[in-house]
This record gives sequence, structure tokens and C-alpha cells, in this order.
Amino acid sequence: MVSVQAFATPAERLGLLPAPVSVELIGGEYCLVPSTAVWCEPSIEPYVDSYLAGGYGVAGVVLRINPSLQLPSEGYVLSVNECGVLVEGVDRAGLLNGFHTLLQLFPKEIYAGGFRRACVLPCLRIVDYPAYAYRGQHLDVARTFSTIEQIEEFVSHLAHHKINTLHLHLTDDEGWRVEIKSHPELAEVGGWRGGDSPIWSVYGAWGERYGGYYTQEELRGLVEYAHQRGITIIPEIDLPGHSLTIGKIYPEVLCPVEMNTEAAAGYDKRNVWCVAREDNYRLLEDILGELCDIFPSEYIHIGGDEVDTSYWKQCPHCSALYKELGLSDYHQLQDYFMERVATILARYGRRAAMWNESAESGTLSKDVRIYGWEGLEECRKVAESGYPTVVMPGPYFYFDMRQSKNEDGHNWAGVVTLEKCYSVSLEELGYSERAKRNVVGFSGAFWSELYLTHSHKYDNYLEYQTFPRICALAEIGWMPQSRREWGSFSTRLESHKGRMEAMGISYRRGVPTKSQGRQITPAMEITTSLPLSNEKALAKLSAYANDFGCRTTRTCHDGDWILYSFSQPINNVTIELTTGYRHVPRGIFPFGVVELSGDGKTYREVAPLDNGSATILVDKPTHHIRLRSTATGNGDRFVYLQFPIIRVNPK
Ligand code: ACM
Ligand code: ZN
Repeated sequence: MVSVQAFATPAERLGLLPAPVSVELIGGEYCLVPSTAVWCEPSIEPYVDSYLAGGYGVAGVVLRINPSLQLPSEGYVLSVNECGVLVEGVDRAGLLNGFHTLLQLFPKEIYAGGFRRACVLPCLRIVDYPAYAYRGQHLDVARTFSTIEQIEEFVSHLAHHKINTLHLHLTDDEGWRVEIKSHPELAEVGGWRGGDSPIWSVYGAWGERYGGYYTQEELRGLVEYAHQRGITIIPEIDLPGHSLTIGKIYPEVLCPVEMNTEAAAGYDKRNVWCVAREDNYRLLEDILGELCDIFPSEYIHIGGDEVDTSYWKQCPHCSALYKELGLSDYHQLQDYFMERVATILARYGRRAAMWNESAESGTLSKDVRIYGWEGLEECRKVAESGYPTVVMPGPYFYFDMRQSKNEDGHNWAGVVTLEKCYSVSLEELGYSERAKRNVVGFSGAFWSELYLTHSHKYDNYLEYQTFPRICALAEIGWMPQSRREWGSFSTRLESHKGRMEAMGISYRRGVPTKSQGRQITPAMEITTSLPLSNEKALAKLSAYANDFGCRTTRTCHDGDWILYSFSQPINNVTIELTTGYRHVPRGIFPFGVVELSGDGKTYREVAPLDNGSATILVDKPTHHIRLRSTATGNGDRFVYLQFPIIRVNPK
């Protein structure tokens, strides 16, 4: 039987994503040939040329700005008739939006660049403009360094989805990626993790030194690359918390308080700027002055999330300032700090952007743009209280969250499926008209602490985690909720997948088919040299009846072991062995080996553990599998035990 796909709308028929405000098919076709000339507004010519290099005849494709169009900012009209193609943007951004829609009318090969063959476009008229001015994607390059080329590739993909802002998270506890010429140590030291660097490596990559930073010249090139594609880059320096890196380089920046390593398994976690130290504001003048020189964006993001105010309470200078200012809550000291930093930015002609905690006490000036990350309700509160708000709550827009229960990724904000992301609804959460007016747009986020850990398993982990969730984000930012509909989105996404392939995006194809199954015959028993927090949990683990794992009461020591004993010998199976949480590397054996035994007396070593895990092939009758730690300490005060995943090999 031949199935005929019924398309409800022209946008579905053409697979346009995001769907334009209006698409009218007027009948007839326009045939483009390799010699068809393209006339284009000079400011976007090099970019347009890279896709659509025209010939020398009468201009068949015209792309121009027409400020007299009666359209909102970023709007465009795209007309195809039998004589040619006309794309008019009300402004430069609108013209680029129109161009990106035009590309979607072409065969998908156009995304490979330099398209030079004949093709037929349907005659139509599209009128289109975005629902929200801010359509963003955040990228954390502080924890895991991305090269300029990788960021440019990402930017190119974002542009094709009409995303207009890249929020570049440049500093954090785990790295400082931007060259500051007046303080070169920041990037030269803070750009590297592990090995002899004072900055920790990612959990599990002990010993390695890795990373990098961007010179100012490289960043200026990136800003221009993004501008060519209609994307503004908003840089973030995360203040006054998340500042462990700068604290390692300039310890005087932090409050003079004793470090409490006991509470943090040997790690010094002091990461908050001293508010009372005047020299800190002079240092920030230097840093932000150079940052504003590189990035022309109206807004500069200065962080303000997850600030541990207990350091200020312990600091003699901060507590004296607190009294002097007559404050009633240490959170107000954060307001004081953020206002002062915003004042520095104002001197450079810029405005401050901050994470939602900064707006909690409500005393911060309403001039600040707030980025709501914790939840939709937190976003609602800041929007309600009058702040221009970017909505990017973890449960919908944190693309470092896993996409199904058994996939890699964080899960503190739950499993963020494509459908969950698409379902975001300001209406359902009771946003008032005032709150809705203050929503400037939406953004996705990609935090990168697990990037390195997982990247070897994927062609491109960043793209796997972000696409197609960015396709949903693109519609949420472009289309008002009243026009969004999951069924239509899914239909159009199917066509759009071909385009993503042509763009070279390693998007997630669906729930991985990799077996996450378990085998419960023969019976298995897990024993260990480590003391456990709950013996019953171990018994359940042995019965494959505990998905979460079993926690020990101390970290691992050299020689500690976990033993899996089977009631019958197993053979011809592949076994995945894991220490630590299953999808996030914590509580592992950082160094260790896998050993097999037929008799429980003599063991032979078959594989090293890699990041706490190993996958082994068992091709001899085996009664016992032992994981043996060869190092003391794992950066946590516990180890997690897991049942092995066993797959029978095909004969
Ligand atoms: C954040 O995720 N801490 C902004
Ligand atoms: Zn202090």
C-alpha cells in the first residue's frame, strides 16, 4: 500500500521550520539555473555568496532591505513568482531571516555550500516575523574548551534556525577562557585544567592537562563571523560566585577565610569574590573594559548565580560592610556587588545581564536583564516583578540534561525530551499579561562539564545533546504559543532532518536502541571490600532490582574490590561494568582493573577501567568478575556500585 502523507498547511508541505507567520502558495514555479544572477545587499553578500553564488544574467534572485515594509523588527517578505525571487527584510536581521527561509525552499544540498544546479521553487508569498526578540543558545566553554572552529560551526547551525544570540559562558570554577591583556595570567593559567594546573580536571581525568583559551583577536573574528549570520554574542564572566579559577590565580580577590576542605572531600571550594575589597572593582574595570572592547553587544552577562554568601558572613571586611550599609540579609550584599559591576558596565555604555538569583531580593535596578534558569516559576516571578526576562529553565531548556532515562547526561532538572522542551507554556503557569510582556525571549543552555567524559562515544556530543532540541527552541522563540502545535512541528521536523544532515549536524536520531537490558540468569551475587551505607541495597542490586546503585560509606583505597559471582559459569557474553553513578561520573574507581576467574582463586587481568567503567568480552567460562581499585581516593567520600549489564553475543 502506498501511504500518502497529508499536509495540513503549506508550511508543512515545504517543511519550513520554524513555521512562518503566513505562507501562501500561489501556483506556478520559478526555475533557477546556474546562471541565474543573485543581487544582494552588500552587507550580507559574502555570506549569501557562500551558499548561492549567482551568475551574470538578469537578477533572478534579489535580497534587499526595505525599511518601509509594515513589519515588526526582524520581519521579512519572501516572494517567488514566475519571474524570480524577491526577499525583503525590514532591517538587516529581517533580510537574513528571509534568506534562511529561502534556503529551506532549495534542495537540502544547498547547505553544503556553492550550490550551482538548476532547481524549481514553488511560487509563493511568505510574510514572517518573530514572536520574541531574544532567541538564544548558551554555550559553556569554561568547563570544556571548544575551539573557535567548533564554535563557528555551532553558530552557523544556530543561524539556520533563526537563533539570534549566542550566550558564551567564558569563566567558571573550572576555567577562564578569554585573554585579558592587562592580566595575562587569567587565561594563561586559568585556561588549563589538570596536571600541574591549579584548576581541577574534570572528574575522572586525573593527571591530564588540557584546555585552551581565546586570544582577543580570535574572539573578534568569532564576533564578526556571528554578525555575518545575524547572531550577537553575549559574553559572560560569572561573578561573584563560580570564581574558583580567578581565586586560584589571584587569591586576594576572595574573602580571607579559612578553607574548609573536610566538607568537600579534599577540595578547596572558596569561589566568591570579596565584596569589601576596593581593588576588586579596579580589577573588574580592567577585565570588563577589555571584554567590552572585544564584544560589541548591548548586554554583558555578569553571572550572579549560586553565590555562597557564607563566605561574606565569615569575612571581617564583608561583615563590616554589611553593618555599615545597614543590610538585613546577606543576599543584599550580592545586590550591592552586582549594582557596582553594572555601574562599571554603564561607564562602557553597556547594560548588565544576570542569572535569576540576582533579582531575588528585588532591590536590583529594573534596568538589568534577568536570565531565569531554575524553573518556570522563578522566571515568572522575575518577569512579574518587572525585569526583562530571558526564559531558559533547566527542566525545559538545559540541553546538558539527558534525553531519555538511560542516556548520558545530567538529570537534576529531569529528563528533557524534545516533546517536554516543546511543551513549555507561559499560559499554563499563569503568567500575567505584565509578566508575559517582560519575557524578551527564550534560550537553550549547554553546560559542558560532562562533554569530555562522553564525547568519545559520539560523533559530536554537543550536537547530539542540542539537536533537535534547538529545533524546538527555534519555534518557541519564533512562534507565539497560539501557533505552536506538536503534530505540525513533528511533521516539519521530519523534512528538516534532511537539512540537518546536509549541514553536517550529528543530531540525535531518536532513543538509542543500545540495550540497557539486564540478564537475571544465572543468579549473581555482589560482594565488596568497601563498607556500605545500606546492606539491603546491595542485595537488591544483586537481584538487578536497584537501578540507582549502592553507596559506600567511604572513598576507595588501593586494593579495594567489587566482586560479581555467578551461580553458573557465564560465557560468550559482553559485559558492561560500571562504578559510580551510571550517567554522571562521580563515585567511581578512577584507576583500576577488571579481573576474571573460573575458580574464585586465581584471577587474570583483562582490562583497565576507563573513567570507572569497562566493557569486556567474556569468551571463557567465568564464575567471578572482580573490579580492583589501584588508587586511593576518587574526589568523593563514597563509591557507587552498580549491577553489570550483560548481553549475550550472537553465535
Ligand atoms: C546555572 O545553571 N547555575 C545558571
Ligand atoms: Zn570579604
